[in-house]
Amino acid sequence: MITLIWLAILVLVIIQYMRKVYSRFDDAGVSHFKPAPVVGNAGMQVTGKRHVSQDFDILYQTFSNDRFIGRYEMMRPTVILRDLELIKKVAIKDFEYFIDHRAVVDDTVDPLFGRNLFSLKGQEWKEMRSTLSPAFTSSKMRGMVPFMIDVNKQMIGVLKKKIQTSENNYVDIECKDVTTRYANDVIASCAFGVKVDSHTDEDNEFYTKGRSTANFGFRRILVFLGYASFPKLMKKLNISLFSNETTQFFKNLVLSTMKEREDRNIFRPDMIHLLMEAKKGKLTYDEKTTDKADTGFATVEESDIGKKTVNRVWSDTDLVAQATLFFVAGFETISSAMSFILHELAVNPDIQEKLYAEIMENEANTNGKFDYNSIQNLTYLDCVISEALRLWPPAVGLDRMCVRDYNMGRANEKSKKDFIPFGVGPRNCIGSRFALCEVKVMLYQLVQQLEVTVSDKTVIPAKLDTKTFNMRIDGGHWVRLKVRQ
Ligand code: HEM
Repeated sequence: MITLIWLAILVLVIIQYMRKVYSRFDDAGVSHFKPAPVVGNAGMQVTGKRHVSQDFDILYQTFSNDRFIGRYEMMRPTVILRDLELIKKVAIKDFEYFIDHRAVVDDTVDPLFGRNLFSLKGQEWKEMRSTLSPAFTSSKMRGMVPFMIDVNKQMIGVLKKKIQTSENNYVDIECKDVTTRYANDVIASCAFGVKVDSHTDEDNEFYTKGRSTANFGFRRILVFLGYASFPKLMKKLNISLFSNETTQFFKNLVLSTMKEREDRNIFRPDMIHLLMEAKKGKLTYDEKTTDKADTGFATVEESDIGKKTVNRVWSDTDLVAQATLFFVAGFETISSAMSFILHELAVNPDIQEKLYAEIMENEANTNGKFDYNSIQNLTYLDCVISEALRLWPPAVGLDRMCVRDYNMGRANEKSKKDFIPFGVGPRNCIGSRFALCEVKVMLYQLVQQLEVTVSDKTVIPAKLDTKTFNMRIDGGHWVRLKVRQ
């Protein structure tokens, strides 16, 4: 009997607590859908029935007169911004109120993720951003494009061989697989100074470890949602995103490469070199140009925070965390962008032919020399990429955490639309130049040599896979490749 009474009291306390949590938006007069107990408004994601971007879209269309809308991510109230002016205020003008991202993990449980640029907070984030941003300027990208071209040549060579030895002179490929391998090999080369060929050596350790690090499947979604709603409990249970084995792999890789370079006085203009320079405090922002769109329309500009010089000494763990972040940040996003671009080119052959014509014109004008300058000059290539990023943004949402009291103004007013695939404000994507170069290198050489068409397995119209937070076509990104005559 006593146990039953205690149980009843516990249930009542939980109900009362949930009532309090779930009354936040009602109390503040913010429009929202009715939440379900515990899962809040994230029920469709927890059960894998709807992609999170579809949820955002439904909110956006339903509350069309609101500047911002409420959404309970399980037990955490989240405000979704609809109004572009408000987005700019939050991300740029009033940035100091919204300097941090939500905590994804605890940095003592998961230093590899918790100490990276994406997770760092406040002053530490500012100092790390200033430390790293010199590594992403156009002059540094100019030095890295040749590595990307080499990796891409390797990939196209393998694809051509497969086509030429096939029965029908074509191959049907799942783009996600091919582009993930390309993204992997580019990061291996540009960030870690390691040469791998994941198209031939399919199960190399770098690829298998990278894939498991970058893949945000169902378990990781639960870990994220868990930290969002019950951070203390998750920390107590010592639940981490990465396994010990993965953490150790990246630690050994980065530290041993750095040591070898020091010992043997090796110079290679890649991220490892730039991190070593940063560690010695030798890396400063060298950008002369104010032209933000140097690698394309979508390029984002570095703010004054990133351009500051700092003299902070970082620990080895901090450096390893940044190198690993470049992996996580550049693996899924790039392969997602490329897979959607190839899908769109297959279903829009007229656009592909126009792109091919521009590429061939560049070949004629430059005597077949493709480099960083070509990347800056090809306007139609840039349009194709921008449009694909608008239609299928690899990063589904941007988030900011409000760290000081802030008046959002009235909820109901008209809203505008804009294009922010690489985010906005001082906390935008540090790798937008790197990303655009990487995508352009692959697309240029691929369309120049291969024709992309639909195959029997191409999904038309494309629908998003609801079993993952990542942007992925349900049924795969299938296209057919033929060698151009
Ligand atoms: C098509 C490819 C990519 C897309 C669409 C993309 C998009 C984004 C977006 C939307 C954000 C959040 C920005 C915000 O909240 O305002 C972000 C952050 C970030 N991205 Fe990217 N990204 C891409 C590729 C890359 C690459 C290749 C790297 C590194 C090599 C990278 C490194 C980062 C980092 C470090 C952050 C966190 C920045 C900070 O908190 O200061 N990204 N990215």
